[in-house]
Amino acid sequence: MLQKIQEATDFLINKLNNEVPDFAIVCGSGLAKLKDQVEAIEVISYKDIPNFPKTTVPGHTGKLIYGTLEGKKVLLMSGRFHYYEGYSMQEVTFHLRVFHSIGIKNLIVSNASGGVRKDMHVGDVMIITDHINFFPEHPLRGANLDNFGPRFVDMSVPYDKEYISIFKEVAKENDVNVREGVYFGLQGPTFETPSEYGMVRAMGADAVGMSTVPEVIVARHQGMRVAALSVITDLGGPEIANPVSHEEVLNAANVAMPKVIKLVRGLVKNA
Ligand code: HPA
Repeated sequence: MLQKIQEATDFLINKLNNEVPDFAIVCGSGLAKLKDQVEAIEVISYKDIPNFPKTTVPGHTGKLIYGTLEGKKVLLMSGRFHYYEGYSMQEVTFHLRVFHSIGIKNLIVSNASGGVRKDMHVGDVMIITDHINFFPEHPLRGANLDNFGPRFVDMSVPYDKEYISIFKEVAKENDVNVREGVYFGLQGPTFETPSEYGMVRAMGADAVGMSTVPEVIVARHQGMRVAALSVITDLGGPEIANPVSHEEVLNAANVAMPKVIKLVRGLVKNA
């Protein structure tokens, strides 16, 4: 594992001309348009990076973009790896190990999710303030990578408080309506049944999705500061039986894109 991480790291350090980006940004379902905001210096296909997994989901294009955003250097991942694709948790979070090895200290993640709170609307953007890990496997299970972080990881503040404040300030200044809430991570690939959405709500979460949690756990293991946004692309609950489709998720993410762009730009600029 360490050798695989090192090979990918060496390859990317060379591509980045030994510069350390200020932020890594991971784009979720339908949010790949964020990449058009970055003035690209280098575009790298996952397939060219040693040991990098390949994406299999439509809407996840499989490119790393190194460039500038708001005067800062960023490394943006357009297309992430999901547990439901069949990857191990080590593969799902491999990029995080590489980002840390390059020296990147800050992470912005985005995703699409199903809202379970009754006052939510499709197209809302939610600042993730906490999560509930309901994946069947843990990304830190097995021998601890001592060079990256401790065996037992503190998760009392998983999402950086200062970054949450900056998101809120940027939202206020730009008249963007944002919500804050707890993200519930499930393996998928099925969307939830009405009763499962009800369970998510009853367990104290506001939105549910199939990503992000493993990445945030590994980022926190390594001491990275994490900011996360979720776009509510559908609504669920025991009282709702609306069909959900991937197309619908992508469309709703598209509609919310301008808000996500404002928030991400604002954070990168002000952090
Ligand atoms: N459930 C799980 N993942 C999702 C959803 C959902 O309702 N919407 C977008 N991703």
